[in-house]
Amino acid sequence: MRARVLIFALLLTYGVTVLTACSGSEGYQIYRANCSGCHDTGRSNTPTLVDNVYWISRESVPLEERIAKTIAGDETGKWGIQPPRGGNPKLTDLEVQMAIEWMLVQVEKEK
Ligand code: HEC
Repeated sequence: MRARVLIFALLLTYGVTVLTACSGSEGYQIYRANCSGCHDTGRSNTPTLVDNVYWISRESVPLEERIAKTIAGDETGKWGIQPPRGGNPKLTDLEVQMAIEWMLVQVEKEK
């Protein structure tokens, strides 16, 4: 019985790791295809992933609000215009979220 529990726990851990790795690389693919044109280059004053001044200034804003802004688009930002869904209306909410998640992990790494 104990061995079974152990195997189950191992499977769970392994499974979750695989899942995380997948969504990470999917987030990266979505980012590359839809977001990097601005967020890699800093085009039209877009904050790049190493623009800590911008990212630190956003930390106090709840994540849901930041996700909603990326999905709906925002023309009122101080830095510039975030187009709705990065300009690709075909992206689902989940895909936009995966790209954001990937971005924010990179932002943390660059700090
Ligand atoms: C046309 C250029 C452009 C594209 C394409 C773009 N962004 Fe942005 N993004 C911006 C700008 C400019 C800002 C800064 C807005 C501001 O002043 O707060 C921003 C801000 C953000 C933020 C921070 C939001 C916050 O409230 O903290 C996130 C997250 C983000 N973008 C995600 C994405 C994702 C994901 C994609 C692709 C699906 C994407 N962006 C595509 C220009 C762009």
